[in-house]
Amino acid sequence: MFKVASHKNTAQLSGLIIVGLFEGESILQSPDRALKNLSGFLSQVVREEKFRGEFKKTLFFYHKLGQKVIQVLVMGLGPQSRFKKENFREVLALAARIVKEKSATNFQVFLKSFLPKTLSYSEAGEAAAEAIDLALYSFKGYQKIKVKVKKGSSSFSNKVTFIIPVSSYAKEVKAGIGRGLALSSGVKIARDLINEPGNKMNPQIFSTQTKKLGEASGFKVKVLEKSDLIREKMGALLAVGQGSSIPPRLLVLTYGGQKKGAPICFVGKGVTFDAGGISLKPSKGMDKMKYDMAGGAAVVGIMASAAKLKLPERLIGIIPLVENMPGGSAVKPGDVVTSASGLTIEVTNTDAEGRMILADALHYAKKFKPKAVYDLATLTGAVIVALGSRCMAALGDSKLIETLKEAGSTVNERVWELPMFKEYGEDIRSEVADLQNVGQGEAGTIIGAKFLEKFVNKAYPWVHLDIAGMAWAEKSVPSYCSKKGARGIGVRLLIEVLRRQNGKKEKSN
Ligand code: BES
Ligand code: MN
Ligand code: ZN
Repeated sequence: MFKVASHKNTAQLSGLIIVGLFEGESILQSPDRALKNLSGFLSQVVREEKFRGEFKKTLFFYHKLGQKVIQVLVMGLGPQSRFKKENFREVLALAARIVKEKSATNFQVFLKSFLPKTLSYSEAGEAAAEAIDLALYSFKGYQKIKVKVKKGSSSFSNKVTFIIPVSSYAKEVKAGIGRGLALSSGVKIARDLINEPGNKMNPQIFSTQTKKLGEASGFKVKVLEKSDLIREKMGALLAVGQGSSIPPRLLVLTYGGQKKGAPICFVGKGVTFDAGGISLKPSKGMDKMKYDMAGGAAVVGIMASAAKLKLPERLIGIIPLVENMPGGSAVKPGDVVTSASGLTIEVTNTDAEGRMILADALHYAKKFKPKAVYDLATLTGAVIVALGSRCMAALGDSKLIETLKEAGSTVNERVWELPMFKEYGEDIRSEVADLQNVGQGEAGTIIGAKFLEKFVNKAYPWVHLDIAGMAWAEKSVPSYCSKKGARGIGVRLLIEVLRRQNGKKEKSN
């Protein structure tokens, strides 16, 4: 999909070419020879159109080059001093979207014209490939009869060439592209799993899919079937699963198994559909609850990207999988179940199922003696009330959260800490069991985390990420995020965290 070339003259240009313009700078300064030949004309158009290069403003026109006509897209980049890596991703993603709408079959990006002085060719290659690949993602879907083929979508063949001034940078750019695609592929894996409807992505299908993905990407997958869950005494996970005709499972993903040292664990909520159980959800919007496995999908994506990037850490992914249904043998409000940790839980509300399945998964994580555990879950509607869809909530180990916050602003998957004062824990005291699974309605996100904390029981440093507000997009913000649908949130964030821990600290731009 991505090529790298350095053009000596305009004869090598074709299709649609994309040029970046910093506010207050001139195209005439370009070191690209092919672009320099065009720059007189370009500058003229830019002047005539009074195009100043403001951030995300665009200018599009046709240009006759000898016998052929090329399309030119000039992207405003704003002032160079304010142009960070995230702006670079945003602008290239936007360009890719425009190209798609224009039905262009290929496009050539003058990479250097987008490059602020603070970004290397390798970083640029990575960020560009990552952003373009993610911006062009769309879910395949099940429309056999395409009534109206969306303009451009049929002819677009995704051929992207990065043009660089001299070929000696090609190796750097290509290495960057490789890393960028390793990242975007993990995000796309997560998006695909999440976008599937509940009947096409149940615990059983999720397991077989993940096995296949593991073989293709380089991580191992062990499936604990219902009989294994019974042997592990995972009463909380089993209780949530008992209302569905499809039995629950627990996946254990391993990357770098032969490596020494304590692993890092990722635990992801895998409720492939959340009807609420006997505490049934209202019908309005219930269809959305197919995305209640976004945490689990993110864990698969993280493992895939980490393996493709050949990260040096040993990693474990744990994904409890269930369908939360109100079948005849479903768990009932008031039932008391015994979790794998031995703690008994009064199921006051069967719709608070995420914390139940995570309780057993977090307990299971102890056997790996991890140096850190991150859980990702679409756990509460309350987090959407508190933070909306601009950032996710983090609760738990403050040191780990510091790194998450830094990583989150670098990759634009932002994180905000909520408190874990011990008094919040009083809300989940039960009269008949060790604890109950819901509080009184206040501070729902914190109560959810307080519940999970009981099962972590200080066995390892831990952070809970509530991604309920971030997992599904109603509109495309930023441009490399899905237009509508699964965002694949969490993959880029945690890969960035791992990279930082490995000392490959990227400059915080
Ligand atoms: N999966 C939901 C949380 C959710 C809500 C995710 C909206 C995404 C969008 C979770 O299982 C749930 O039902 N939570 C309840 C908890 C309550 C019963 C304490 C909620 O948020 O209402
Ligand atoms: Mn629920
Ligand atoms: Zn749920």
